Amino acid sequence: MLQKLATDSNYLKEVREQYENYPYPPRDPERERQNFFCVRSCSLDALNYYHYAGQRNFTKGFRALVAGGGTGDTTIALAEQFRGLDAEIVHLDLSLNSMQIAKARATVRGLDNITWIHGSILDAEKLFNDPFDLIESVGVLHHLENPAAGLAALTTVLKDDGVMNIMLYASYGRESIYQIQRLMRIINKNEADMQRKVDNCKTVLSHAPQSNAFIRAQDIFSDVANFGDIGIYDLFLHSHDVAYSVPDIYRFLAGSGLQPTHFFFETQPMGNDLYKIEAYLEGSNLSDASKRLSVEESQAAAELMNGRIIKHNFYASKHTPVTPSPDDTDNVPFLYMIVNKQMYHDLYQIAANAKIGDVFSCKIYVHEVKFVNTPNLSRICKAMDGDKSLDAIFKEVRMSYSATEKKPTLEELKTEFKAFFAAFNKQDLMFLRHKSLPRMVTMEDILTRMKTV
Ligand SMILES: C[S@@+](CC[C@H](N)C(=O)[O-])C[C@H]1O[C@@H](n2cnc3c(N)ncnc32)[C@H](O)[C@@H]1O
Repeated sequence: MLQKLATDSNYLKEVREQYENYPYPPRDPERERQNFFCVRSCSLDALNYYHYAGQRNFTKGFRALVAGGGTGDTTIALAEQFRGLDAEIVHLDLSLNSMQIAKARATVRGLDNITWIHGSILDAEKLFNDPFDLIESVGVLHHLENPAAGLAALTTVLKDDGVMNIMLYASYGRESIYQIQRLMRIINKNEADMQRKVDNCKTVLSHAPQSNAFIRAQDIFSDVANFGDIGIYDLFLHSHDVAYSVPDIYRFLAGSGLQPTHFFFETQPMGNDLYKIEAYLEGSNLSDASKRLSVEESQAAAELMNGRIIKHNFYASKHTPVTPSPDDTDNVPFLYMIVNKQMYHDLYQIAANAKIGDVFSCKIYVHEVKFVNTPNLSRICKAMDGDKSLDAIFKEVRMSYSATEKKPTLEELKTEFKAFFAAFNKQDLMFLRHKSLPRMVTMEDILTRMKTV
């Protein structure tokens, strides 16, 4: 017997049953003592950069809803970033077992800024009196009987200047998954037991020939290898799972008065070029024509061109976002939270020991960044620390020249910085924020703190 929800029974029974029996993704709360995990779209630095011109202050009265929070990845990532600040994070899910895992993770971390609600997204309006600044719904809406109704329910509790972080499955990249899902519906037609369905699926996969669509595409799906039976259920046996192309997403969001504002690339090597057809056609006879396409057409074409995008993770909002400009010297350039502070010094060393014009390709985690050494790059990197504004950095560079040397102009320094910034920003490894704002917590801060608890 499933325990009744706090509000009406407004959900798909089979979906809840799955997530009670196979909470996804599987997480061991004990691992919280060593790990911190935060994807780009959950980072407040990325949110500030892509939406609020780097000028959003997160230290007062922020409200975030994690709708379909599951076993807690997003909830924990947000709660850690808001630790000690005036913010409320609400975790909403219809699977009690998934929520227990999320709660246990929060307990191990000593996080007390999360409100736990056992309920359905479709009851959002009834559940919440106050609207949210941020609503995260990652891998959830495509499991609702009527995803548009789910999105509409969430939109009623989103502030006018708020942002949604949504992940939906991508139709072209997941075609092979749907072939196996259809195959398993035939094989399992007389099977009601969930575990026997999983076992049957394992048999099918182990006998699939090389010609099988999933076998050919399996390198892009990590769930079977990483999550075992839970991954198998989620990928191949889900009772309700729909997928979207880029144009589908535009239509889906428009139904609730929203627009997609930024698509994330996760770990794909192309970085922020992933959703730009002009990047794929650069240098070809179609290069100019591709640059004349609308943003939506370019993204739609890029998805088709790539063919291996398996999920779309994007921000959506009612308002038009603003990104900070590297021309504004009141902005502070800083490395993304996963990058160690030591990296500022390493970049300085790389530039200082190389010739002007040398091209570097440096690998940071899975991200490849290519940049060219320019006359003042080593001095710029030497001055950068993640807290100084561009104005302060450029002053420091100019002061480092002796009275007899010719100092670079501000414009020359800006040009050098902008090329360097673009290379790192393309991989979401460097952002800008206004100098009036404090820096947000980094991975290093979080890991150091965990060692001392
Ligand atoms: C694939 S899991 C994703 C969990 C989490 N968002 C993540 O990315 O790790 C989907 C979650 O959505 C929840 N869910 C599905 N339908 C829901 C609904 N109508 N209301 C609330 N939660 C729902 C499930 O219980 C499950 O925990």
